[in-house]
Amino acid sequence: MKITFLGHASLSIKVSGINIIVDPFITGNPNASNINIESLKADYILITHAHQDHILDVESIAKNTGAKIISNYEIVTHYGSLGIEGHPMNHGGQWEFDFGTVKYVNAIHTSSFPDGSYGGQPGGFVIEGEHKNIYIAGDTALTFDMKLIPMQTKLDLAILPVGDNFTMGINDAIMASEFVECDKVLGYHFDTFGYIEIDHDAAKRKFYERGKDLMLLDIGESIEL
Ligand code: NI
Ligand code: MN
Repeated sequence: MKITFLGHASLSIKVSGINIIVDPFITGNPNASNINIESLKADYILITHAHQDHILDVESIAKNTGAKIISNYEIVTHYGSLGIEGHPMNHGGQWEFDFGTVKYVNAIHTSSFPDGSYGGQPGGFVIEGEHKNIYIAGDTALTFDMKLIPMQTKLDLAILPVGDNFTMGINDAIMASEFVECDKVLGYHFDTFGYIEIDHDAAKRKFYERGKDLMLLDIGESIEL
């Protein structure tokens, strides 16, 4: 499984030869000018919630690639009305796709479309594929619900927001990594706007002091699991 950071909360994941894009917000991110959305490959687009900083480039990527949306019922219905195919899910539901299984799990946040219309309830994803398991938390507060995840899935990587203000910050993300029982964390949702700028070295040091590894990738950088 190869995971590439596309800036903010956007990821590209390659698993079993299938390309997945998560929460694409690229053309609106001045820090991500090195990513050309036309060159992105996608068989699926996973969307955690309907906020603009998670959906901005969904339509253009879906139209370029023919990718199918995987998200909550309301978001999939919204894109369905624009002629984009999707697979609707809701909290607690799991489905086996051609690249592995996806479970839509709880997140504590909000989820409205940029025009204010209802975007369902926000979520995160637990993905099991190629014998590797990852948790993509989405925008969320720290929540006890995270403790449910390791009861069913042994995670190889937790992708957690670390930018604070709109989501968990560093201290809560450290606790979240304890809740999900995964010491290997990829941080996201930081530095894009003034409210969520973080000190990278201080953040990594805090994780390290708790015996955990926080990775903060450059935009376009990849890790292999
Ligand atoms: Ni959000
Ligand atoms: Mn966000």
